Amino acid sequence: MRTLHLNTKLPPGPKDNILGARVMAEFKSDPLAFLLKMAHTYGDILQWPFGPFRSWMAAHPDYVHQVLTTDADKFYKATITKRSLGPTIGNGLLLSDGEFWRRQRKLIQPAFHARRLQGYGKGMTDNTDRLLAEWQPGQTRDLHHDMMKLTLAIVTRALFDVDLSDQADRIGETVTQLIEVSNRLGGSVFIPPAWVPTRDNRLNKRIRHTLSEITMGFINERRKTGEDKGDLLSMLLSAADEDTGGHMSDMQVIDESITLFAAGHETTANTLTWTFYLLSQNPRAEAALHAELDRVLAGRTPDLSNLPNLPYTEMVVKESLRVYPPVWLIPRQAIAEVPIGGYTLPKGQIIMLSPWVAHKDARFFPEPELFKPERWADGFEKQLPKGAYFPFGGGPRICIGNAFALMEARLLLAALAQKYALSLAPGQVVEAEPLITLRPRYGMKMVLHPRAQRAPETDQRVTMDV
Ligand code: HEM
Repeated sequence: MRTLHLNTKLPPGPKDNILGARVMAEFKSDPLAFLLKMAHTYGDILQWPFGPFRSWMAAHPDYVHQVLTTDADKFYKATITKRSLGPTIGNGLLLSDGEFWRRQRKLIQPAFHARRLQGYGKGMTDNTDRLLAEWQPGQTRDLHHDMMKLTLAIVTRALFDVDLSDQADRIGETVTQLIEVSNRLGGSVFIPPAWVPTRDNRLNKRIRHTLSEITMGFINERRKTGEDKGDLLSMLLSAADEDTGGHMSDMQVIDESITLFAAGHETTANTLTWTFYLLSQNPRAEAALHAELDRVLAGRTPDLSNLPNLPYTEMVVKESLRVYPPVWLIPRQAIAEVPIGGYTLPKGQIIMLSPWVAHKDARFFPEPELFKPERWADGFEKQLPKGAYFPFGGGPRICIGNAFALMEARLLLAALAQKYALSLAPGQVVEAEPLITLRPRYGMKMVLHPRAQRAPETDQRVTMDV
C-alpha cells in the first residue's frame, strides 16, 4: 500500500511558457514517443501543459486501477472525447455517463453473455471462409482493409443480423473519416461548437448522415417484418424507456447501433493486422503458432470448441494486444477532487491512462520491446498487478465486447494462419498511427504464402521497432 502525502502541488512534469505551445507541439508531432518519454522522465504520476490547460497521466498500475475501478464513480468520460466523437457516434454506450449509461449497459449486456457468444461463432467462421475463398496463393493484399471488412461483417451479423457487405467500403471510408476528424478535434485546445460551419463540423455532419442512413435502413427492415429475432437489435427496439414508458427513441437506437458497430470492428481489425505483422517479423513465434494449429486442428476448420486447446494462439493475441494496444489512450475527467499518488487531482482535471505506456513498463514486462507470446504462459497474467495490462480498459466501463473480441481474434487468427503464412510486401513501410485507435499509417500490404509452400527464408524480415 502506498502512503499518501496529500498536497496541492502539481506532480512532476515538463515546464513550458504560459501557452504551453512547445510541449503541445512535441505531443502532436509524435504522441506515442511523447508519452513514453514523459513516463520515463517523470515517473508514475505526472502532468504536462496542454495549451493553457493541463493533462495528468497515471503511469503506475495502482493508479490506473484506482481511476478505472476503485474510484470509477469519481470520474466521467472526458468532455474532450465527447465533443470530438459525440457529433458522429452520438450518446451511445461509449460516451454516455451516470444513471443513463448504467441503464443502457444493463440493457445491452445480455447480447454479450457467454451463452450468446457461442451463437456468434458460426458467423465468424462463415465470414472467414468467404475471405479465404477470395485469397489466392502468392497474392499481395492490404491486410488491414481485409480485416476491416471481415470484422465489420462479423459484428453486424452477430448483433443486428444484417449483411452490410455491399456497403463495406462506404462504411470503412466513413469510419476512417470519423476517426481522423475526431482525432483532429480531440487534439485541439478549443473545439468550435457543432453549429459553427467549420470544415470538420461539416464533415462530421456528412459522416453522421451516412451512418444514420445505414443504421435506419436495417432498423426499418426489422420493423417491417416485426419479427423478434432475439438479437441486440430486437432488444433495442423493444426496450422500454423508463422515463417515458415508451420505446427507446430512434435516435438512441441509432446512437447505440453506430457505437457498437464502429467500436466493435475497427479495434479487432487492428489487432489482427498487427498480429500478422508481428508474426511476420518473429519467425520463431510464427513457427510455434503454426505447429500448434497443425497439431490441434490437423487441417480441420477451427471452431469455438477448439479454442481451449489453442493456448499458444491465445498467447499470441494477448502479446499483440500488449505491443500494439488498439486503444492506446484512455482519458477520464474528475467529478470532484481525487487524492491520487500523493497529489490531489483537481475537480474537472483530465487524467490520461495509456495502455501503450503501461504495456512497455519493464518492471512488469521484462524486455518489453520484444514480441514474446511465451511470457503469457504459467499464469503470468494472474501475477501481474491490477492495472498493469488493460487493453480493454477496466472496472465498470470495461469494454463490453471484450470476450467477443478475444474469441473472434483467436478464431480468425487460427483459421487464417492455418492456411497461410503472411510476409510483409516489399517496400511496405510500417508505422503505428495513433488516432483514436492505433492503426497502421500506410496500411499493411502482405504476401500470402500457402502453408504447404512455406515463405522462403529470403523474405523481407525487418527488426521490430516498437
Ligand atoms: C480488440 C478489440 C477491442 C479492444 C482493444 C477494445 C478496447 C476497448 C476499451 C479500452 C474500452 C474502454 C474505453 C474507456 O474506458 O474509455 C472499450 C469500450 C467499449 N468497447 Fe471495446 N474494444 C474491442 C472490441 C470491441 C467489440 C468487439 C465491441 C462490440 C461488439 C466493443 C464495444 C465497446 C463499447 C460499446 C465500449 C463502451 C463500454 C462502456 O463504456 O460501457 N469493443 N473498448
